[in-house]
Amino acid sequence: GKTTQLKMLRDYLLGKGYEVILTREPGGTPLAEKIRNLLLDPASGEICPVAEALLYAASRAQHVAEVILPSLQQGKIVLCDRFVDSSIVYQGLGRGIEPQAIIDINHFATQGITPDLTILLDLTPEQGMARLAKRNKEKSQELDRLEQESLEFYHKVRQGYLDLAKTSPERYKVIEADDSIENIQQRIVALIDKYFTI
Ligand code: TMP
Repeated sequence: GKTTQLKMLRDYLLGKGYEVILTREPGGTPLAEKIRNLLLDPASGEICPVAEALLYAASRAQHVAEVILPSLQQGKIVLCDRFVDSSIVYQGLGRGIEPQAIIDINHFATQGITPDLTILLDLTPEQGMARLAKRNKEKSQELDRLEQESLEFYHKVRQGYLDLAKTSPERYKVIEADDSIENIQQRIVALIDKYFTI
C-alpha cells in the first residue's frame, strides 16, 4: 500500500504548488535498480548478511548522490519509499548485524543526510502477508527473496520499526494501515499539512 499512498501524496503536494520527486529504495537510479534486482531475485540465493547490508548501502549511495541530494539542492520535496531505517531494521535486527555498524555504513553512504519526517504504515505481519498473497495472485507475481522470509523475521522487523519510532516521536509518525486507501491517505495528508504549518 505504501506505493499507492506515496503517489497520492505526491499528487496532493504537486497540487499545492510544491516541486516534488517520488523515488524508492532499493532503486531510484539505473544502477541502484540493478542492485535491487540482485537483492530481490530469489535466484541470488543466500546472500551473507554483511554483503546484503553493503549492497543496500551501495544502492543508497548512488541514489543519494544522483537523485536525492541534487533534488534537495533544487529545493524539491523528496518523497522516498524506504530509506536507512529499513536497513537498520531488516539488516540489523532481522539479520542480526550490530545496528551501530549499519548506522555507520549508511552514514557513509548517505553523506549524513536524514529525513525530516518518516511515516510508518503499520500492519501486523499476518496482515502484511495476507496483502502480499492477494497482490501476487492478482498480478500473477511470485514472492521475492525478502518476502519469502518467515513470519518470525517480520515480527522482528515490525517491532524494530516501532521501537525506532519511539526513539524520535518528532520525526516518526506511525499510521495504522489496516484501513481503506482513502482513510490512510487522509491521515497522511493531515500529518503533512500539520508539518508544513509548523
Ligand atoms: P519494497 O518491497 O518495499 O520495494 O522493498 C524491497 C525489499 O527490500 C523489502 O523487502 C525491504 C527490503 N529492504 C531491506 O531489507 N533493507 C533496506 O535498506 C531497504 C531499503 C529495503
